[in-house]
Amino acid sequence: MVANDAAKENKSQHYQPSAENLESRKLFQDDKFGIFLHWGLYSMLATGEWTMTNKDLNYKEYAKLAGGFYPSKFDAAKWVAAIKASGAKYICFTTRHHEGFSMFKTKYSDYNIVDATPFRRDIVKELADECHKQGIALHLYYSHIDWYREDAVWGRTGRGTGRPNPEGNWKSYYQFMNNQLTELLTNYGKVRCIWFDGWWDQDQNPNFDWQLPEQYALIHRLQPGCLIVNNHHSSPFEGEDVQAFERDLPGENKAGLSGQDISRLPLETCETMNGMWGYKITDQDYKSTKTLVHYLVNAAGKNANLLMNIGPQPDGELPAVALERLAEMGEWMKIYGETIYGTRGGIVAPHDWGVTTQKGNRLFVHILNLKDKSLFLPLGNKKVKKAFDFVSKKPVKVQKCEGGVLLNLGEVPTEMDKVVEIAL
Ligand code: GLC
Repeated sequence: MVANDAAKENKSQHYQPSAENLESRKLFQDDKFGIFLHWGLYSMLATGEWTMTNKDLNYKEYAKLAGGFYPSKFDAAKWVAAIKASGAKYICFTTRHHEGFSMFKTKYSDYNIVDATPFRRDIVKELADECHKQGIALHLYYSHIDWYREDAVWGRTGRGTGRPNPEGNWKSYYQFMNNQLTELLTNYGKVRCIWFDGWWDQDQNPNFDWQLPEQYALIHRLQPGCLIVNNHHSSPFEGEDVQAFERDLPGENKAGLSGQDISRLPLETCETMNGMWGYKITDQDYKSTKTLVHYLVNAAGKNANLLMNIGPQPDGELPAVALERLAEMGEWMKIYGETIYGTRGGIVAPHDWGVTTQKGNRLFVHILNLKDKSLFLPLGNKKVKKAFDFVSKKPVKVQKCEGGVLLNLGEVPTEMDKVVEIAL
């Protein structure tokens, strides 16, 4: 092979993110906080988004739910305003989840919100328009799994929904997905991210080829700044722009879905506000505002974004408790946002007491859980020019000691998050 060919081949194998894409990645990282919304026909069954497969519901019977879907209280302007007021900077919406129902008008299947329901309104369109109007970035979730379509190749889920042919028809299904992705990236203005889910459905079939490179290239061709996230629970594949974690912060694995290496890509972890992604009528066990704030701060300290989920009700409203949490997080963000937005994980690694975030030479020490009046910061020989309480601006005494400094806080911190700002 001549040198030129080798270079060409190398180039075709290695994804080179465009300038727009690199800029998007930066803005994404600066945003730190997004809200995930899982909404589909499943919200009517009110037992989460997996009911169709968990209960082996027949696909033709399940589809009849569409005829009764009329979320009379849906108001995109209200949703976006409430989410924006929480301090979140982006919304990730399920355009089509594993159940296979499209929450947008699509030419490629009648099984969609406009053609199959009496509601007849394109929810993705209304949300997208509001996001653009209110200045919050739009991310779109798209499932690789489909428990409804006959051409979708069976994986380890959705086997009991009565579809006749386990082999499906990959060519037709792949084309369908790419057609829909083209619609999503053409008809809804700027989309900052496509968030894939379901790759793992074929994990018992290691030779299965999802043909991702071609699909990723299509997305980057249609909107070069669009970030590709794939919730495949492994280290990122070629062509992806953000590494996803589910229900665990990078480096942790309490939920059993993580444990993969942390890459150099921007990171994002998603988590539920109660215990379920889709609306679950019996789950009122919402995390406290303190827990949610700690999750966000811990994510930021680990250099990751937090994508916090809410499952909207079948009537089109966000659950009241979720709205309360959004408002309370917003109060907190109004005061502390500066220590989160635009930061990266700080030079002091996460500890049991909390984490640090950093913007240039401003180091924010987030003390989340400390039983002492003073805190050792392993800063090595780094000089501390100034240290003060981020909120009151009162100076904090700093004592040099071996391997770093000791912050004398005067009392054991009782705040949800005591932030000491250090000028390095
Ligand atoms: C899982 C589930 C899915 C949910 C997603 C969110 O992969 O299959 O229902 O949408 O996690 O991270």
